[in-house]
Amino acid sequence: MAASASVAADRILIVDFGSQTTQLIARRVREHGVYCEIHPFDMGDAAVRAFAPKAVILSGGPETVTAGETPRIPDAVFDSSVPVLGICYGMQAMAAQLGGSVAPSASREFGHARVGTVGGGDLFAGLDADFDVWMSHGDRVTCQPPGFAVAAATDNAPIAAMADVERRYYGVQFHPEVTHTQHGGAIIRRFVRDIAGCAGDWTAAGIAERAVTEIRREVGDEGRVILGLSGGVDSSVAAALLARAIGDRLTCVFVDNGLLRKGEVAQVQEAFGPSNALPINLLTVDAAAEFLAALEGLEDPEAKRRAIGTTFIDVFEREAKRIPGVGWLGQGTIYPDVIESAASKFGKAHVIKSHHNVGGLPERMHLKLVEPLRDLFKDEVRAVGLALGLPERLVHRHPFPGPGLAVRVLGEVRPEYLDVLREADAIYIDELRQAGYYDQVAQAFAVYLPVKSVGVVGDARRYEHVIALRAVVTTDFMTAGWAELPHELIAKVSNRIVNELPGVSRVVYDVTSKPPGTIEWE
Ligand code: XMP
Repeated sequence: MAASASVAADRILIVDFGSQTTQLIARRVREHGVYCEIHPFDMGDAAVRAFAPKAVILSGGPETVTAGETPRIPDAVFDSSVPVLGICYGMQAMAAQLGGSVAPSASREFGHARVGTVGGGDLFAGLDADFDVWMSHGDRVTCQPPGFAVAAATDNAPIAAMADVERRYYGVQFHPEVTHTQHGGAIIRRFVRDIAGCAGDWTAAGIAERAVTEIRREVGDEGRVILGLSGGVDSSVAAALLARAIGDRLTCVFVDNGLLRKGEVAQVQEAFGPSNALPINLLTVDAAAEFLAALEGLEDPEAKRRAIGTTFIDVFEREAKRIPGVGWLGQGTIYPDVIESAASKFGKAHVIKSHHNVGGLPERMHLKLVEPLRDLFKDEVRAVGLALGLPERLVHRHPFPGPGLAVRVLGEVRPEYLDVLREADAIYIDELRQAGYYDQVAQAFAVYLPVKSVGVVGDARRYEHVIALRAVVTTDFMTAGWAELPHELIAKVSNRIVNELPGVSRVVYDVTSKPPGTIEWE
């Protein structure tokens, strides 16, 4: 991984064995104000030493240590005399490597279990003697290594947790990082703050301060940066950090592609304009006509996406060339993007969609990349945005796809459809906000369906198009449920849309989860 933009002094190393919940471990650690990074188990001893962790957490994973060639903990972890917490596979690997033994369990445990703590293992100090945990394992430690004592047991696992208090080595068979485990947060806090002694100074203000210092170091006293601002959270916070670090040596290019929502151009200009506490060099490019021309006649969703992508690169590159002396391209890449693209062979699929991915532009224009958010999770990005004075509304805004409203007008995109969709969407979002539901759903929007349907408004027959309303609940956007909004709220939105927009004869509510549906309709 590239040098961190905002490294803290106290760092926890999370060694990844490919568990579904490794990212959650990192988020929990950071919630306690402690910086951490996830690295694959085969990172190598030199990389462990170079990272200089204050403590190490070993993740779970799908493998079994009872087979031959299985993932191992780097030796440097044990050589460095720092506290180690092994979770599930991490505990088993620790047991196997330190002289204990592991065997397949007669009864596999998945889901809920109840552990009873044993003795004074200091990882559980101050907690209830019994508590609920979440398990997911087929193997178990049958004999703890020399120096360890049993710290907790379940009915099925006599060694559900083990501790060598002197060396500060701990193993838990259950998953403290998932919310189903009672006291999970307290256990992680106890390990990183009390046992490892991390200061807990990874706060929004501290993150911002370190990021600013790092940008100045990286870009130098003369470097000029260009950044594509979309109005979304990530690019806005990246812009705010860069502006704070290098002032007017940053130029933000905001491409109005004609596919934005009602009032969006004005909102971005206001948030970053001269009257704001955070003025930046903002260049707004009105390229609506160019994008609409590129979309003309296209019906296929992928063809539409491609047309938008290439037009964006054309416009951005053209504008970038007009700014003299630019040596850097700023990007709002965040940590989950980094983890996903660096996933090891046990890792997850690659799922990055972004229109800030400006093709081969950095190479063509000889630009170096500066990515001040590449160590941060989304909630940290939001906290930094607020600490820098960005408006609450911008910071807590729902995600909006790069291709914008073009993927919300089904089939061919026509200007008159976009006009109706913008109004319908504004009504919907306005009502959601007023009813207090905007922040309770992860994403909500209107979709334009160019199919005709008969209606009657007043005494007149209406034969117009359909608006679909979508609202989803999700934390990761990989899976999502449709939001059960109150019927009165949907009714109010529907009435307003049909009454206020003559181009709409009918409103429907989307009750499709993901999977099988996607969140967007195209
Ligand atoms: P889907 O529709 O795949 O969407 O369930 C998951 C999340 O990704 C957003 N999305 C996009 N974002 N460019 C983007 O920047 C895209 O082409 C794109 N397509 C979908 C979508 O809004 C949702 O938050």
